[in-house]
Amino acid sequence: MASERIPVLTADFPMPWVPESLRVKQLEEQLSSLRSAVICGFNQLLDLKDLNTGVHSTRLAEWGMRVGQELGLEESQLQNLEVSALLHDIGKVGIPDSILRKPGKLDDAEFELMKKHPEYGWAVLRMLPGFERAALDILHHHERCDGKGYPAGLRDTEIPIVSRIVCVIDAFDAMVSSRPYRKGLPYEEAVRRLVECSGTQFDAKVVQCFLSFAQAEMSTVFAAAGTSVSSAL
Ligand SMILES: [Fe+2]
Repeated sequence: MASERIPVLTADFPMPWVPESLRVKQLEEQLSSLRSAVICGFNQLLDLKDLNTGVHSTRLAEWGMRVGQELGLEESQLQNLEVSALLHDIGKVGIPDSILRKPGKLDDAEFELMKKHPEYGWAVLRMLPGFERAALDILHHHERCDGKGYPAGLRDTEIPIVSRIVCVIDAFDAMVSSRPYRKGLPYEEAVRRLVECSGTQFDAKVVQCFLSFAQAEMSTVFAAAGTSVSSAL
């Protein structure tokens, strides 16, 4: 009985020819899927630590991306902005719960430890190929335009533009989000504080751009999230 002929890849059954452009496209799609999976995985980690403010964070990340587009960031910067907006506080997984969940003001030693979270986030993300630049942007998301931020005390345009955008949306998110020990601020008050600190803590151009479109949508967003002005008071 003649044995069944098994095709051999190289000689009898050569690999189908795939145009270079298609191979590049396939690789780009794989890279994009991998990137999304990493973001998703880390987001779940933030959820496990209860460090994600849910729908607010997602909406704020979208607003952050719109700021980036309005300010004319390049595609690669926008990709880093998306990662940085969603994962800027990933380093907080390295901060003890006794500090993260402390009801009330942190003492000096606790605050010094809390200030390590951008460095922790950078240390983790820089290990992942393709996330090196986002890791740097995350490292600087608590810098201030007046140079009084951390970890490096950078000023104005020394601070990466992605970090300046994340800084504004992070601060806004922190102000309007409720914690177990305090209610979030009404968004009108958060807007007032953003404007008040524009040019000192926050990049004035970023604040102006953010508020130029986000303010009109806030009443809808916060009502849908169950944190309308009245419930936040
Ligand atoms: Fe942070």
